[in-house]
Amino acid sequence: VKVWKCSSLISRDTASSCSITALISPNFFSRSPSHLVGCIRTVKTTTWFDEHLTEDNQEYMRKTTAEEYRRQTAEKLNPLKDEPWQRHEWTEGSRRVGLVAVKLGMVPVWSKTGERHVVTMLQVQDCHVIKHLSKEEFDGHTAALVVGGKNVSPFNRSESQMEMFRNAGVPPKQKVTTFKVSDNALIKPGTPLYAAHYRPGQYVDVTAKSIGKGFQGVMKRWGFKGQPATHGQTKTHRRPGASGPGGDPAKVFKGKKMPGRMGNVYVTAHGLKIWRVNTKYNVLYVNGSIPGHKNCLLKVKRHTRAHKHTQTRK
Ligand SMILES: *[C@@H]1O[C@H](CO)[C@@H](O)[C@H](O)[C@H]1NC(C)=O
Repeated sequence: VKVWKCSSLISRDTASSCSITALISPNFFSRSPSHLVGCIRTVKTTTWFDEHLTEDNQEYMRKTTAEEYRRQTAEKLNPLKDEPWQRHEWTEGSRRVGLVAVKLGMVPVWSKTGERHVVTMLQVQDCHVIKHLSKEEFDGHTAALVVGGKNVSPFNRSESQMEMFRNAGVPPKQKVTTFKVSDNALIKPGTPLYAAHYRPGQYVDVTAKSIGKGFQGVMKRWGFKGQPATHGQTKTHRRPGASGPGGDPAKVFKGKKMPGRMGNVYVTAHGLKIWRVNTKYNVLYVNGSIPGHKNCLLKVKRHTRAHKHTQTRK
């Protein structure tokens, strides 16, 4: 059902105008010529059947496609289907794979002693190991596993990506990412990963693309103080002021903080404690806030700066 979410967004235009997909649909010519008027939309959508199927047929297509996805995923969820790779004991320095999750939003949780913590809920949706990259294939030092999350329509995946998914026997994924993994923690491609991959009390790093803020001035982008409100200021309240010394060195140093595009970059939140794990809906409750908008896809990995937690926080 998830797959069809985008179709509802665009369906409101489809009644009044027709898109490019209608041009190539087989029964286009059987429709009235009034459809030719306003055929200027070039929106690329993956929902081709909204355009020319009857209501019943649309319903049928939705149902069968959703079933097909569920079946594909369910097959992989059977741990007895084929042999997993051999599992090894944990040793000092072993490094496990991480997860791809979807940000649901923030909620408060209360501990048994009554402390309140604000947490972010991360749902692990359709997360599968997709590919194993050996040491030589990756960087010459560590092996890696490619992991994908959240099933999507195959129509917006390229052929080379589809081949990778087919080899693993998993449906195409919206986000694919790579994790460095030590040799004793390699998992067979096709294996599903769940929220239970982590336990409450563990610390994770979460990487996501922050919300884009557009072109911003120095006060918002870099936290400059701005200039006084009064005392002869003429339209300089939020401006940066001088940008460098004159004469010597007679230039503005590289990296000078200036106005510009803000946000829409990958940001990592480090050392977030997992307060709770819901294994039924595969939700991780992670301490504090996390970059990105709701429903964004993020990369969750084991925390790598452990020493930070041995220091006292001020
Ligand atoms: C949880 O997050 C809050 C806010 O980011 C922070 O002040 C607090 O120290 C964190 N707690 C733990 C146990 O990490």
